[in-house]
Amino acid sequence: MNRIFSGVQPTGNLHLGNYLGAIRNWVELQHSYNCIFCVVDLHAITVPQKPEELVQATREVTAAYIACGIDPKKSIIFPQSAVSIHAELSWILGCHTPLGWLNRMTQFKEKTGKHADKASLGLYGYPVLMAADILGYRATHVPVGEDQKQHLELARDIAGAFNRFYNQDYFPLPEPLIQGPATRIMSLRDGTKKMSKSEESDYSRINLTDNAEAIELKFRKAKSDALPTITYEPEKRHETANLINIYAALSGNSREKIVEEFGDKNFSAFKKALAELAIFFVPSRRLMIRVAGP
Ligand code: AMP
Ligand code: TRP
Repeated sequence: MNRIFSGVQPTGNLHLGNYLGAIRNWVELQHSYNCIFCVVDLHAITVPQKPEELVQATREVTAAYIACGIDPKKSIIFPQSAVSIHAELSWILGCHTPLGWLNRMTQFKEKTGKHADKASLGLYGYPVLMAADILGYRATHVPVGEDQKQHLELARDIAGAFNRFYNQDYFPLPEPLIQGPATRIMSLRDGTKKMSKSEESDYSRINLTDNAEAIELKFRKAKSDALPTITYEPEKRHETANLINIYAALSGNSREKIVEEFGDKNFSAFKKALAELAIFFVPSRRLMIRVAGP
């Protein structure tokens, strides 16, 4: 049977982008695949972490998986550092990865900017560790958001290079599963930046732990534009397109239908409807149960 592997880093709050771009799709995939869902704490330490916070965040992401509908009886859930294969295989695969391939990784360039010399070897080699996560289980499919596409292409290239070198089909080439209208949710403050855990302003994202008031307030304050009608023009109206995409992903309605419904209404009515949907669908209340320490 085909096998799924995917993961989220335990660094800060899970947000609507993580949910719609990744975790919600995992819940469906459990019915047709053998699934392994990892909390990738070894990826988290590619940038400095406080040990106690990392332990707590690892618990919280695990709880979030379950709260969002990952069934531990059906799927395997575990922290990456509990299985030494990930780090070991990462070394072996690293010995089959030309530096030129890693130099192409845009996420490393975006994260480090002009300060690449100060970044750790771990951050640079991060995509090799991700390849090891996937190939170590001979996973065939990897459901992720759009931002991970290039890392997955690298994992396929590494698997191909390894197979050719040893002249056998040792690793299957993993297929990315990047599905739905929400593969790239953008910040609520700037429609050209992706919604992320590391963005300073909490108003830029809907956290899965946000209560109804916070969700309502954040959508109300979300950046939009001054045009009187609502149209889907992703090249020109970034913020509006993002809100339409979120509405589409939450409601299951097409963008055309949404524009038809709200086109001639004002933004405040659209944002109110969007907040109501999010309050209904974001599994926050189940997450409000505090995750107890040791
Ligand atoms: P991370 O938070 O970087 O560990 O990402 C975990 C998963 O969430 C990956 O599959 C990402 O592609 C996905 N993801 C993260 N941010 C977004 C976003 N803004 N929109 C859609 N998917 C996202
Ligand atoms: N790099 C991914 C992210 O930041 C997380 C991740 C690590 C992952 N290993 C993986 C995703 C393996 C899918 C498969 O989003």
